[in-house]
Amino acid sequence: MSTVKLKSGRDATQPLTANEHLLKWVEKMAELTTPDDIHWIDGSQEEYQALCDMMVDSGTFIKLNEELWPGCYYARSDASDVARVEDRTYICSLSKDNAGPTNNWVNPFEMRKKLKDLFRGSMKGRTMYVLPFSMGPIGSPMSQIGVQLTDSAYAVVNMRIMARIGTAVIQEIEKDAKRVVPCLHSVGAPLAARQKDVLWPCNEDKYIVHFPETREIWSYGSGYGGNALLGKKCFALRIASNIARDEGWMAEHMLILGVEDPKGEKTYVAAAFPSACGKTNFSMLVPPAGFEGWKVWTVGDDIAWIKPDETGQLRAINPEAGFFGVAPGTSNHTNPNAMAALAKNTIFTNVALTPEGGVWWEGMTDQPPAECLDWKGNKWTPAIAKETGAKAAHPNSRFTAPASQCPTIDPAWEDPAGVPISAMLFGGRRATTMPLVYQAFNWTAGVYAGATMGSEMTAAAAGTIGQVRSDPMAMLPFCGYHMGDYFRHWIKMQRLVSSTPRVFHVNWFRKDADGKFMWPGFGENMRVLKWVVDRSRGRALGQETPIGWMPRYEDIEWNGLSYPKEKFNQLQHFDRAEWKKEVMNHEELFIKLHDHLPPEMVYERELLICRL
Ligand code: OXD
Ligand code: MN
Repeated sequence: MSTVKLKSGRDATQPLTANEHLLKWVEKMAELTTPDDIHWIDGSQEEYQALCDMMVDSGTFIKLNEELWPGCYYARSDASDVARVEDRTYICSLSKDNAGPTNNWVNPFEMRKKLKDLFRGSMKGRTMYVLPFSMGPIGSPMSQIGVQLTDSAYAVVNMRIMARIGTAVIQEIEKDAKRVVPCLHSVGAPLAARQKDVLWPCNEDKYIVHFPETREIWSYGSGYGGNALLGKKCFALRIASNIARDEGWMAEHMLILGVEDPKGEKTYVAAAFPSACGKTNFSMLVPPAGFEGWKVWTVGDDIAWIKPDETGQLRAINPEAGFFGVAPGTSNHTNPNAMAALAKNTIFTNVALTPEGGVWWEGMTDQPPAECLDWKGNKWTPAIAKETGAKAAHPNSRFTAPASQCPTIDPAWEDPAGVPISAMLFGGRRATTMPLVYQAFNWTAGVYAGATMGSEMTAAAAGTIGQVRSDPMAMLPFCGYHMGDYFRHWIKMQRLVSSTPRVFHVNWFRKDADGKFMWPGFGENMRVLKWVVDRSRGRALGQETPIGWMPRYEDIEWNGLSYPKEKFNQLQHFDRAEWKKEVMNHEELFIKLHDHLPPEMVYERELLICRL
């Protein structure tokens, strides 16, 4: 495959920079991976179109019906390459102790040797794209820059939606103001002369490797999501969490939203929920009946970089420029704003393809299509699904959509200074024990609530779905260093800010004795959000309980929803026996982390036990 011809006549093989450092690295990596061509990505629409057209020609992309889905493309991955591979993800710090017990670690010298062997000749027969990208608005003091070398055109076009890329980033690099994070990515499927390519090249053997001290990322064998779009989880969380610890800020797996009341008062909230637990839906919440005049604005749906400004106020940017959202369950009912965002210029991966050249996934409409092709390309009908249980869309199928297309995108979403954060939420999927909402007594108690949060596992990662696993701050798969040191960093942040955000724990997923969800969720979560905002602004009441402050029935705005008081009390019920068990489970994680665990976590646990 040779690199695409651009109508403008630009020769993409010509470097876009004279920066020697960058040129040398590209040359060295090309020597190692031996691609047939090198293509410097300028990020233009023309180039994006040429790459999409090339993938349509090769069959990797299907162009969707232009009238129904303008500017949209459809891709199916290899059936073995459908999610992040946490067991193949490594933090190769110099010392094993710095990676901690929650990360996979291999001696970096050994790993480099292994990677060099894997990457040697890995791009043969392919083009190596040089993709400069900025995480965060170009020029923001909070942004960071990377260059991804990749042999996947699919990764390039997805990255163009998810990050700011191309010439403007090169200009930033040439200012030499920032360190560039080098990211090497190969699908690990070299082509012999005249060998026909497959639609989704990848390798059974996968390595997603981070070198935190040298701020490097090497990813091999996968073309999917967080394994391949290296700006996202690898850079914006695993590497950035290291940079943030060293520089006194925070890189978090958090959405950012702004709540605007009818008088125009705006309050920004950041929230950490594990993968596929509704961050995208929550960040685009539509206020329910009874909340006329209220607005929820979206700043980001997955990652927040949070830093104290010169006055000590914590401010956050969304380092991403798009949404890489889980498709199943997304509908005009659950998330009309996401549906509007993905209505055009979107790439769909592993959803179902309808005969009209449209897409469909479970939960998108009440009525499934009479027939479609499923994410593996097989015929799918509701009858087949009933008989075999086959899903039309893979549970981790995704849309890659530009954030700018979201109707609720916050006017300040690209403000280089970020938005001020007043409250932080932690939450997971918990069928039992966890009430709808409680507020931690103070910052340290909030850090404890985040550090000990758990959630039922979802399809976003390979693993046992449904099992409750401890997922501190929703960062278990994303913290690029020792989790105990990460807690310490959180506690230390208190000293760097003028006032800490208020911290809350939420759970939209509690079930009753019949296994039914007790809370309607979605737009109705606005009622919780209002209490959170009012508490953060010191104007709402609550009730002290052993785990924190909880709203009483009368502290919640019920206008527009009939929700019985007894049911609310059941939903908020704090069960001493269940909590005693819960706290015992906290010990398991703490024992693992013991030699790095800040004493505050031990004391918080002791205090909680005493109150129980
Ligand atoms: C994601 C994830 O893709 O958390 O955002 O897996
Ligand atoms: Mn995520």
